[in-house]
Amino acid sequence: MIISKKSIQHIDLEKKTVLLRVDYNVPFDSKTKKALDLTRIISTIPTINFLLEKNCKIIICSHFGRPKGKYSQKLSLDPISKLLSEILKKNIGFVPYPIDSSVQTRISQMQPKDILMLENLRFHPEEEDNNENFSKLLSSFCDIYVNDAFGASHRPHASISGIAQFVPSVAGLLLEKEIIELSNILHFPKTPFTSILGGAKVSDKIKVVENLLSKSNNILIGGGMAATFLLSQNLEVGKSIVELELTDFCSQIINKTKIDNSNHLCFPQDVVVGQSFEEYTKFRTCLVTEVGPNEMILDIGPKTINLYKSIIQNSATIFWNGPMGIYEWANFSHGTREIAASIANSSSKTIIGGGSTVDASHHFQIQDKINHISTGGGASLEFLEGKLLPGIKALEDK
Ligand code: 3PG
Repeated sequence: MIISKKSIQHIDLEKKTVLLRVDYNVPFDSKTKKALDLTRIISTIPTINFLLEKNCKIIICSHFGRPKGKYSQKLSLDPISKLLSEILKKNIGFVPYPIDSSVQTRISQMQPKDILMLENLRFHPEEEDNNENFSKLLSSFCDIYVNDAFGASHRPHASISGIAQFVPSVAGLLLEKEIIELSNILHFPKTPFTSILGGAKVSDKIKVVENLLSKSNNILIGGGMAATFLLSQNLEVGKSIVELELTDFCSQIINKTKIDNSNHLCFPQDVVVGQSFEEYTKFRTCLVTEVGPNEMILDIGPKTINLYKSIIQNSATIFWNGPMGIYEWANFSHGTREIAASIANSSSKTIIGGGSTVDASHHFQIQDKINHISTGGGASLEFLEGKLLPGIKALEDK
């Protein structure tokens, strides 16, 4: 399904009051009050600047963490509003909890180009309940609603989808870019198209694997999830964490690719195994047929790295989600490091998504060499499963 939604580039915004929903749910150190990764904040700056150029009054809103409908000082957006103010070099007003109709008075006192940020919307249970009255209240703050919160667009919440029933609603520049980049992967990838899927669990990626199977020329499997695939082929995986209930799914997928012969589903040929799930556990490299009953798979091995690198170098589009091993531990980081470097050095179109993959890209300092880093974790996976996310569905069609 091709998505065709209006963005801020398609409507008249001059001097309008805009409610801008962002996803500033960033990793944050509550002791030092410092955000540990600014990607999600920086990615919304083009939208904010666009709205400033149109002389809009901007009311920014977001969630932060999972306060479960109750106020929590630790999850206040106040420090994030100060950070944004430093980034923009501009004063930003802040509306503390609770968000109610008194916000309208603050807004009526704003001048064009003024920015106001609302406190964490999830302090109100009505946000996650997609409560109609809360959606209406939010819509009463603006002439136009702009969704730039791709990372939260898979959540059917009041500020993500509910609000769009009550006020003209369009995408911000970040959401528009995410839709274009991820749709291109699903519908118009330059071939050969290679998907690299890793991470801990098959269950997190089950639908993505299914959907990408029909779109990719190659799927390279690594990370913890490889163990469940290997077990489904009756290979010994020792003490590796597996999802027994998914071995049938893994065999079916493997059989399907053998019958269709349409694409290559690749598994590790060799692995690095440790004796326990500990950073400095004893380890060795072996073929996947040689894993002992008391060992656990913690990384892909050098033969697999070389095979995957040669496929990556011959690809025209690469999508990567999920590390190849425990990349935070030096002894089990080689697979992810080598694959990350190979993706960064390839001349193909490169897209990565998912919290730990983005973190790995920073860890190995390749983030500047990637064409598109999706700001969505769960959202990018659900998008690639082929779902129309509620926050995108709610927006006006072009
Ligand atoms: C994310 O970090 O993936 C988004 O901000 C969504 O957060 P949530 O999983 O708490 O809804």
